[in-house]
Amino acid sequence: MKTPSKIFLVGMPGSGKSTLGKQLAEKLNRNFFDLDAEIERMAGWVIPDIFEQVGEDYFRELENSVLLMLIRLNEPAVIATGGGAPCFYDNMDQMNSAGATIFIDTPMDTIVERVKKEKSTRPLVNQMEDDTLAQDMDELYKKRLPQYEKASFTTNSNLEDILEYLESVKS
Ligand code: S3P
Repeated sequence: MKTPSKIFLVGMPGSGKSTLGKQLAEKLNRNFFDLDAEIERMAGWVIPDIFEQVGEDYFRELENSVLLMLIRLNEPAVIATGGGAPCFYDNMDQMNSAGATIFIDTPMDTIVERVKKEKSTRPLVNQMEDDTLAQDMDELYKKRLPQYEKASFTTNSNLEDILEYLESVKS
């Protein structure tokens, strides 16, 4: 009985994908990859610089290529993706074909509180004014929801729920 080889965490910026992903990887005794961190490593630029220097379209291309590289990696892994990753190219279908996809559906209040504090590291959020941030984030969430909802499992940031789900899909 085996847990899916690749486990992807998807969801809005600030939903806690990286934190949960690290905890999950530790529990499952496998490596953790953060898609944004891998993009930065390969590009040699931090994400805000990629957006500023070459634009979002090029970032999405990089994101797609690095995601495909991680999918092809010949080892079991937990992979936290950037908030927009499921919504470009056929990324969501690729992730679903490669393993389990977990939508971290954190309450919007928590998300807004978190991203307000770390706006500068997130170019899309950084474009939003503080007084309309909650509304703008909610709009972005609604726009992205159809892709997030393609995930094989949805949880409100609960590690035990994820472990239980993964136990149930062992093959
Ligand atoms: C993005 C989210 C970011 C990062 C990039 C774009 C988005 O990742 O990939 O800034 O489109 O929502 P996090 O979800 O880890 O903040």
